[in-house]
Amino acid sequence: MQTIHKPNWHIPENHATPEHIFLNRRQFLTTTTIAASAALIPNIAQSATEPPDKTLNLYPAKQNPAYKLNRDITPINVTSKYNNFYEFGSHKRIAAAAQALKTRPWDITIEGEVQKPITISIDELIRKMPLEERLYRHRCVEAWAMAVPWTGFAFSELLKLADPKPSAKFVEMQTFYDPSIAGGQKQIWYPWPYKEGLTIAEAANELTFLATGIYGKPLLKQFGAPLRLAVPWKYGFKSIKSITRFRFTTARPVSFWEDVQPKEYGFWANVNPEVPHPRWSQASEELIGTGRRVPTQLYNGYGEQVAHLYKEGDSLGLTLWR
Ligand code: MTE
Repeated sequence: MQTIHKPNWHIPENHATPEHIFLNRRQFLTTTTIAASAALIPNIAQSATEPPDKTLNLYPAKQNPAYKLNRDITPINVTSKYNNFYEFGSHKRIAAAAQALKTRPWDITIEGEVQKPITISIDELIRKMPLEERLYRHRCVEAWAMAVPWTGFAFSELLKLADPKPSAKFVEMQTFYDPSIAGGQKQIWYPWPYKEGLTIAEAANELTFLATGIYGKPLLKQFGAPLRLAVPWKYGFKSIKSITRFRFTTARPVSFWEDVQPKEYGFWANVNPEVPHPRWSQASEELIGTGRRVPTQLYNGYGEQVAHLYKEGDSLGLTLWR
């Protein structure tokens, strides 16, 4: 992944503004940014040659007030043009190339150590799930950050559907594989398809979210349509895009970046400002589209929800590579 070199100066997020004014302004900006961003997303983000998305009428979903932000939503004209999706190129301007991805028909397979293995169409899966909107931060390992309104469902709902056996300790997720449309997958030195993994306890955590939409509409392709993970306390590479497969396993999966460079990208990858990446600091992050840097927080500010998951030995998960 590319490095962003920026000076290490800090500005507190609520610098010089009384808290009640700061928080009201946040609420106002959040609502207006979501509405303005939604207006920029076409109702149908698919190509004319694809079967229709049968879930359009489910958007926008009701916002879950438990998942709010203390920073501004990043507007869509920033987030939709600055993406990591190596299947379509190893730079940020992959949005145009990603439109080649056909997201219907799209099947999701749930297999491995489960009582109920199933292959189900994405529309059927989404229709079974209680959709909601959540405002989440996202912190890339490259030291940039954004904040977006995801629509989707809690991973715990997928666990109910799959019914993992007691032997299941991990879940591995896999992205599509089709080098004929995804030029990056012709780069044979990468271990395609992209894979990621979580422990079952992480997957069951209330924060772990499967996103089907963003800014009140179905996901644009560059964000990982039609289904992507959002685990906001972990570095962004854990949030795998365009998922086709969930495999429940007894052994810890080896993820894409861990396979490529195990000394730099590990299984846990929990956000930690104290542990630098071997090649750069993680102490602060650039809020994309603003030119500002802010201090990075342990677990990206989500310690209250997730710190209890990491109590023993090296599974503290606070270094990148163990
Ligand atoms: N998923 C797949 N399949 N391929 C990728 O290259 N990049 C990861 C993650 N998921 C990636 C992926 C990284 S490094 C980040 S930071 C986020 O996606 C970027 O998400 P965004 O483009 O929606 O901001």
